[in-house]
Amino acid sequence: MLLDSLQTISIIPAMILTSTLSPKPFIKWAGGKQALAHRLFQAFPADFERFYEPFVGGGSVFLSLSPHKAIIGDQNQWLIDTYRAIQDSWEEVASVLDTLPNTKEDFLRIRKMLPASLSLTERAAHFIYLNKTCFRGLFRVNQKGQFNVPYGEYDRRYYDPFNLEAVSFALQETLIRPGDFERALFDVSCDDFVYLDPPYYKLGGHSDFNRYTEMQFREQDHLRLAALCRELDVKGVKWAVSNSNTVFVRHIFAGFNIQEITARREINLNSQSRNIIELLITNY
Ligand SMILES: C[S@@+](CC[C@H](N)C(=O)[O-])C[C@H]1O[C@@H](n2cnc3c(N)ncnc32)[C@H](O)[C@@H]1O
Repeated sequence: MLLDSLQTISIIPAMILTSTLSPKPFIKWAGGKQALAHRLFQAFPADFERFYEPFVGGGSVFLSLSPHKAIIGDQNQWLIDTYRAIQDSWEEVASVLDTLPNTKEDFLRIRKMLPASLSLTERAAHFIYLNKTCFRGLFRVNQKGQFNVPYGEYDRRYYDPFNLEAVSFALQETLIRPGDFERALFDVSCDDFVYLDPPYYKLGGHSDFNRYTEMQFREQDHLRLAALCRELDVKGVKWAVSNSNTVFVRHIFAGFNIQEITARREINLNSQSRNIIELLITNY
């Protein structure tokens, strides 16, 4: 069944879209900071040259901030390819999305395709499609890189053309870097500002969602991140890090400013949520 809303949007000529919208995430992403973005901005420095976000995920902070110059990165190659395709031509991504039907059979057929076998545009369209049609917008791939979240049976449109155009616009002055956070930060300088939102360190007894890629973000990666933050501090680069309110995180960032922030988070598969305290650590 093709969604009615999709049929409607596919007849809007791309030429007439001159979106003045502030861009929003075009996918659902675990750990997304959309509800917190404005609270975080109050804690960000008033001005800086370039904005670095090496764990960009769904991009809620980068997109709400819409900085003049930015460098974004993520270890999830498929996600990074999707940003690149939208930067190149959001219209082409949208036109492939318009051809993908929202049925369980089509979902299973599309889910089987390996991203490496597709063009950049198709890869991006499949990424958005799977995110919008799978169970709760989760991301999980097997060892071969095949997506393996079940069908979600949601009757919703895959994208808003005005928003996709606004996202593409925000990406025009942005460098997009795949891979590990250390690589994304190799050329940062003291006039720049870095916001870091890694997969959270597990809360006591509960394992936090930690599988955005084939790999996990382990304790040694948190230690590597804290060591890099100390190096950046010595170079005079300002940074802010989000993480869980744990003894471990407080310990590895000891000596920096640690603020507690109350956030609403989903706690189980039934979408129940509750307020929890997270940390925002800054070196300024
Ligand atoms: C908590 S999410 C970021 C959420 C984002 N702030 C948002 O609002 O959607 C963490 C991100 O880090 C990425 N990631 C995991 N390990 C990484 C690594 N070693 N280097 C860079 N990114 C990594 C994941 O793919 C995921 O997108």
